[in-house]
Amino acid sequence: MGWSCPSNIALIKYWGKRPVQIPMNPSLSMTLNEARTKTRLEFDYNPANHNPTVGFLFEGKKTPAFEDRIIKFIKSIDTLIPSLAHTTIHIESENTFPHSSGIASSASSMGALALCLVQMEEKIMGPFPPGKFLQKASFIARLGSGSASRSVYPYFAVWGATENWAGSNDEYAFPVKDYHEKFHQLRNTILIVESGKKKISSSTGHSLMDSNPFSNTRFIQARSNLSKLKTVFNEGDWDGFIRLIELEAFTLHAMMMTSQPGFMLMQPGTLSIIEKVREFRNDTGCRIGFTLDAGANVHLLHASADADLADRFITSDLVQFCEDGRIIKDQMGDGPSRIKT
Ligand code: PMV
Repeated sequence: MGWSCPSNIALIKYWGKRPVQIPMNPSLSMTLNEARTKTRLEFDYNPANHNPTVGFLFEGKKTPAFEDRIIKFIKSIDTLIPSLAHTTIHIESENTFPHSSGIASSASSMGALALCLVQMEEKIMGPFPPGKFLQKASFIARLGSGSASRSVYPYFAVWGATENWAGSNDEYAFPVKDYHEKFHQLRNTILIVESGKKKISSSTGHSLMDSNPFSNTRFIQARSNLSKLKTVFNEGDWDGFIRLIELEAFTLHAMMMTSQPGFMLMQPGTLSIIEKVREFRNDTGCRIGFTLDAGANVHLLHASADADLADRFITSDLVQFCEDGRIIKDQMGDGPSRIKT
């Protein structure tokens, strides 16, 4: 069996958590389409086997760092998927985006792995009640990487309890279906300012929020921003949308800079791109805005109706700030899909 699971980009950011992998504020993301992990899983369930093994290949090769993480993760969820105690597993995974692009792969990889494990459980134990399959996959994915919980749903997903979306929960994500048609098929162009491994892991970043003097204000602000985004989604308010996503990007990085020790992931190219995007938007009215993940790369979000205008601007003004001129063109996607094997 196999699953192809997309990555996602957070519009309202998750930054700060408490045990076990519970977010300090609700977050909301857009599911991508092109940046995906494809994972295949073969299993042998034998109730007499009390010592099963897990094997893992990444892009066809043994990768000890990834394998250790996967084995540790699978051990940590054996009470949630009881058949794991008697099941030998072989997993193979690959990403559709370059490994060294500076694009976080934990959301798509943990999402794909969780979907495979939950499907394995379904094959062994019988079908889930309607709607519960993805909920369980999201729950399991969250334990691997918080943001992965949102990747199992199409379009937009919210993770973390909020009064704005009935059914939202701290333990799994929830699909967001109530948004204005202006936000259908949003584009996401990722400008690779810096590839390579992150200088600070996201788990270190999250834990530094425990002592950040501004963290409580941030958690309150994130809730308020989420509420505002709900109104923006209902009204189709494009200007409000841009104001919010850019504020969220700046706040995420402000939290990094005001942690102790503080760290900065933006690079000079990141700032130049931000300046140019704001100038261009003022001059042309193009519906384009930016957000940032935990890194120097810039995620541009633009309306599909403005795709040509935005593409021309990116090529003429922004590609110069990208490492080796690299960009990745992505867009809102309709979620994970099964791989026919
Ligand atoms: O899922 P993690 O632990 O890698 O944290 C992700 C944090 C951000 O990407 C910065 C924000 C988010 O909500 O995805």
